[in-house]
Amino acid sequence: MFSKSKKAVFLDRDGTIIEDRGFLKSPSDVVFFPETFEALKILRKEGFLLFIVTNQAGIVRKIITEDDMKAVNRHILGELSANGIKIEEVFCCPHDDSGNCEFRKQSPFFLKKAADKHCLDLKNSYMIGNHPGDVKAGLNCGAKGIYILTGGGIKHRQEAEKTGVLILPDILAASEWIKICAEIEKIHRDGGLPEKIEKAARAIKGGGTVVMPTETVYGLGSDATNPGAVEKIFRIKRRPANDPLIVHVSDMKMLDGIVRGIPDKAMLLAERFWPGPLTLVLKKKPLIPDIVTAGLPTVAVRMPMHPIAVELIKKSNCPISAPSANLFSCLSPARYSDVAAEILDSADSAISGGNCLRGIESTIISFSDEDNPALLRAGSLAVEKIEALIGPISRRHSSGGSSEAPGMQRKHYSPGTPLFLIKSPSDVPDKKRRNSALICFGEPGGSEKRGFAQIRILSADCEFRSAASLLFSTLSELDRLGLDGIYAVPAEERGLGIAINDRLRRAAAK
Ligand code: TXA
Ligand code: MG
Repeated sequence: MFSKSKKAVFLDRDGTIIEDRGFLKSPSDVVFFPETFEALKILRKEGFLLFIVTNQAGIVRKIITEDDMKAVNRHILGELSANGIKIEEVFCCPHDDSGNCEFRKQSPFFLKKAADKHCLDLKNSYMIGNHPGDVKAGLNCGAKGIYILTGGGIKHRQEAEKTGVLILPDILAASEWIKICAEIEKIHRDGGLPEKIEKAARAIKGGGTVVMPTETVYGLGSDATNPGAVEKIFRIKRRPANDPLIVHVSDMKMLDGIVRGIPDKAMLLAERFWPGPLTLVLKKKPLIPDIVTAGLPTVAVRMPMHPIAVELIKKSNCPISAPSANLFSCLSPARYSDVAAEILDSADSAISGGNCLRGIESTIISFSDEDNPALLRAGSLAVEKIEALIGPISRRHSSGGSSEAPGMQRKHYSPGTPLFLIKSPSDVPDKKRRNSALICFGEPGGSEKRGFAQIRILSADCEFRSAASLLFSTLSELDRLGLDGIYAVPAEERGLGIAINDRLRRAAAK
């Protein structure tokens, strides 16, 4: 007998992987979301078979023909295939909801059909879509559903919320979430995770501290409403009191409890990018004590996407203040093994989540001046994506001491080994290469790399996502080798390259 071991992701088409532009007549009407390719590559790499399941009522309503639909689908599969992404099969229902159609989502008909044909394990499969009917089709056959907010997804959000399904910003976030879940499963094979989260939540409620994974870096968390608990974080990290903390919430209701009003542009950002690696600085309510915000009238808040972090906040039933789980001014830990022993020893509880997906901290946008949002820290969410939604934002990140961006030290995220920024590897003389490392983004020339003791080439993929995710762990690994120096050629100043270069500059600062 065949075992049903293969796992699948079923994808809605319009509004999920391509823009929803009504019933599409021709391939030239197809516009892919820019995130789709990256997202589906992640899923394929995680071993999922991919299927498209789409309702095309335009056929029965004679707005498009079956041939139009087929031509459009062929084009979609062609584009995906050109990017190395294989779709096993496309299922299409031509009916609308007037008849008694057994195919149309929310019916799980096609999902079950695929499961029979391809020996799929539906329990470990997902359906991703931007309509409540999509996720219901998944839930109706025992798969997991993820609702995303692109292509009109925000419109039906409340209906989706009623199904209790997970809601994420877009196809990329959904794929990342699935990847993080796979990482968690690897780490917690023994099935003991729920108890560990319970124990950590008890520590938080009792005024203690917890090392917790997030999708950016590990955090050291405590109850953000308990000044005594927050004080422990500052003590353990040896962090100066004038460096405020980021508060993590699990939902909008919790957010409402701690901030006074949300400016329209901040709301747009929250709706589009939460849960995820974006921190918003907003006016605080008295529930957040002054120690969290270093006396500022504003509080930095984010809604993390990591399932362990979210569950911990929910179980603790309070917002969690959590700076990165490093000693002050040292490298941020993007792997559990990089959390300093001193921090693990001092914390009341710790949960491993394996490697952090993003590896660089959240992007911080301040709304302290509502009409003039400002970038305080470049981070895991590319600033271009933020500006595409709310227009240009000012850059106010400073090199320390500013009341606008407290805690933005010029020197930060530093390895013990001296780090130098160079324009080109050729700038490093031979004798200095012998016991030094070279970090660069993209392949260096033969003579450029000759003679270095260690070379780390971080990928220069479209947005530097993979490079960003490996930056801190690479620095921390090189830092253990007893080298004389680490030489880094900055990335191009675009996408996450901006955040990478920011961290490298601070790491290099004396
Ligand atoms: O990804 C992240 O953001 C990680 C994970 C754990 O969520 N957290 C993190 O926290 O990076 P931390 O403490 O390393 O950075 C907090 C920074 C402060 O140094 C400060 O620059 C800024 O956030 N910040 C916090 N509250 C602020 C406020 N009210 N106004 C302006 N900046 C603030
Ligand atoms: Mg759709």
